[in-house]
Amino acid sequence: MTLLKIGVIGLGAIGERLIQAFTAHKNTEVTAVVDTNKERAMSMAKKLGGVHWYANHKELLANEELDLVYIAVPPKFHHAVAIDVIEKGIHLLCEKPLANSLEEAKEMYERAKQGGIIHAMNFPLNYSSPANTFEKLIKQGYIGNLRKLELSMNFPNWPRLWQQNDWVAGREQGGFVLEVGVHFIQLTQRIFGEITHLNSVLELPEDESKCETGVIGSLEVNGTPFLINGISQIAGSERIAYTAYGTEGTLSLVDWGKLEGGKLGEGIQPIHTTEIQSTLLDHLVAAIEGKENRLYTFKDGYDAQVILEKLRAI
Ligand SMILES: NC(=O)c1ccc[n+]([C@@H]2O[C@H](COP(=O)([O-])OP(=O)(O)OC[C@H]3O[C@@H](n4cnc5c(N)ncnc54)[C@H](O)[C@@H]3O)[C@@H](O)[C@H]2O)c1
Repeated sequence: MTLLKIGVIGLGAIGERLIQAFTAHKNTEVTAVVDTNKERAMSMAKKLGGVHWYANHKELLANEELDLVYIAVPPKFHHAVAIDVIEKGIHLLCEKPLANSLEEAKEMYERAKQGGIIHAMNFPLNYSSPANTFEKLIKQGYIGNLRKLELSMNFPNWPRLWQQNDWVAGREQGGFVLEVGVHFIQLTQRIFGEITHLNSVLELPEDESKCETGVIGSLEVNGTPFLINGISQIAGSERIAYTAYGTEGTLSLVDWGKLEGGKLGEGIQPIHTTEIQSTLLDHLVAAIEGKENRLYTFKDGYDAQVILEKLRAI
């Protein structure tokens, strides 16, 4: 088959990561790139063998024939860029969080649906073997009935050392609740169903431009407690643990990729994960070819945003 032509908008840490994936995939090629930072756009275009580059996404949309646009700009620009892509009728992959407010997220979802385009989100946990094994074991009754769900996020450094930029530690569009919490909120909605937000408290620095340094959120999934407990600027190592406590056992997804658990009366042990992995790009290609696929859409992005905005509310 001919390769699907991908345009990438936003060439930072994650944009580069996905460019590598598009380049390595047998069905896709990146044919144009955009970044408001011209040097970055030029240098990426060169690295990709001289593809077209732009400093403005509108020029990309005016000049390129594309099968898909991937948006990897900071969250507060998702909405404006996505609406332009949707108006052009081009399939769209958007970074999480979907938007920077519920209103923006709602409009993006509704416009994408009306436009009849494929609208996918990059929530990588959905395609990870440990997270899928977590879901499988939960559904097979490994923990019995769920008693409590807990997301614990410990960050000695926020922003993390690999994601140093001018927005991720800011209150306007950054913070670990938005940046990391969103993955587990979406995963929870997928595995356990609807989340209800009861109350939450943020620890906020005096400097109003800086994001939260702590969160304690009390939520429910189908009437079962869901605790979100996060803190940054602490001693020790980074640790993110998503744990389901049940009547018969405990199961944890630790640091994204490690699954561990045990039955009542046993210790916690690593659990080998055996699920077959298919990537987000495999599913995107399948969707574009009209084949069966498992994409998480702007609807999933919107549902997660509903909870995110309640957690972020000051
Ligand atoms: N899915 C994941 O696992 C994951 C991981 C990290 C980040 N993200 C998300 O990806 C997005 C980007 O994050 P990042 O860490 O790569 O940020 P970054 O700041 O490193 O990169 C963003 C890039 O976008 C460019 N940019 C800004 N506004 C633009 C615009 N209007 N048009 C074109 N380019 C523009 C910037 O110059 C920069 O190069 C964010 O939404 C973030 O939440 C997702």
